[in-house]
Parts: sequence; C-alpha cells; structure tokens
Amino acid sequence: MPALIVGNWKMNGLGEDIAEIAAMAGAGAGSLWIAPPFTLIDRAVIVSAGALTIGGQDCHAATHGAHTGCVSAAMLADLGAGFVIVGHSERRRDNGERDEDVRAKAMAGQAAGLQVILCIGETRAQRDAGDTEAVLAAQLDGSLPDNADALIIAYEPVWAIGTGLTPTLADVAAAHAFIRQRLAARYGGAGHGVRLLYGGSVTPANAADLLRVEEVGGVLVGGASLTAQSLLAIAAAAP
Ligand code: PGA
Repeated sequence: MPALIVGNWKMNGLGEDIAEIAAMAGAGAGSLWIAPPFTLIDRAVIVSAGALTIGGQDCHAATHGAHTGCVSAAMLADLGAGFVIVGHSERRRDNGERDEDVRAKAMAGQAAGLQVILCIGETRAQRDAGDTEAVLAAQLDGSLPDNADALIIAYEPVWAIGTGLTPTLADVAAAHAFIRQRLAARYGGAGHGVRLLYGGSVTPANAADLLRVEEVGGVLVGGASLTAQSLLAIAAAAP
C-alpha cells in the first residue's frame, strides 16, 4: 500500500493559497489528501479535479439542524470532500471535545460516506508519567466507531504537534504496534486493515525515516503541508 500523505491546513489559507493546492494537484504525487479550512473546500475540490482527495478538519455529529456555525459530514460530502479528520488534539483542547463526541463525529463521517481520520495521542506529562499506552487505550475505547469501515487512525503525540519535536522511531513503532493490537482486539480481522498514520512535526527532513517505521502507513502533516514545495518533498520521501 503506498504511503498516504495528509495535509491539515488548520486555520490557514485564503483564496490566493488555492494556487498551492493547484500546484500539489499538478504534481501527480500519488496518495495526497488535503484538509483546507471549510471556506476553501469547494474551490480545492474544483481546482484539484480529482488529482487530490480534499477533506474537512472536523464535522458535526448531526446531519443537519440548529447548530449555528457548524458543518455536517453530509455537507462535506456534498461539496465533494472524501474524508474528515475527527478528534484532533486542538479541537479536544479548544472546543472541549471528549472521546464520546469524537466517536459520534467518526460515525457521522462514515454514514456520510467519508473516510474518517481519527486522531489520538498523549501529552508530554502523560508520556513522562509512563501513561502513554493507558491514554491511547482510553482514547480508542471511548472514540472508536462501531465498525472499522473507512477508518484511519492518526497517532499524534500532543507534545510533537507544531513544536519541532518528534518521538524516537522506536517510540513511534511502539505506539503504532500498541494501537494495532487494540484495533485487532476491538474489530478482529478488520482491525488489521485500518491504516495508521503518524503526525506531529513531520517535515521533508524526517518523513523518510518516519514512513519506514513498521505499521506507519502515512503521515498527517500540519505546518509543512501549507506549501506545495514542502508537502511534495514529504510525498517524494515516501518509500
Ligand atoms: P504539525 O501538525 O505537522 O504542524 O506538527 C500536525 C497536526 O496537527 O496534524
């Protein structure tokens, strides 16, 4: 399976930045997925003309209704989006999202026909306390949807996001092996088919090493996904 490279633009990008998405699309660089802000999804779908998969960074758990300012998974699918990220640590932190909320969003994404990238990861304090596996287990137990269809798990240590810090390759391997084991316990054979991503300070310089780690099926990239030059360099590093 070729590595999956996913860019998360977070709250970045204005109309002029569509040029970066056009450049990414023009490079024909394999499995490249981009989650621009909601405001650019429509234009990104049009400009990438099927060469990229465009997705949302979040969705509401309901299909529609009285939820001012929110966007449903069905609305994303309606725009031509192919995936949605749920449970990113910034949403857990800024919006108080709990595992049960993340689970509801994941199931809403699946119901809308989207691929779902569900993010989990420990804080620095939790890692230092030796609680990484317990935290990952609790997040998985609380947030996994009922079935593994169209599900992708992103392991993103909170302390590695936007900091320039990354875990050792051995720590990445250990976390991914643990996640795989929990998915197999939860879903049986289907748990082995769930793609796992690593995220947190991925750059063109470290991508090749991270992508070679056992069970790492791709990367979720924030800061280094904002320009075509940098994201394409990461894609080129994929083994
Ligand atoms: P970063 O963000 O690559 O800027 O560390 C990763 C993420 O939050 O998905």
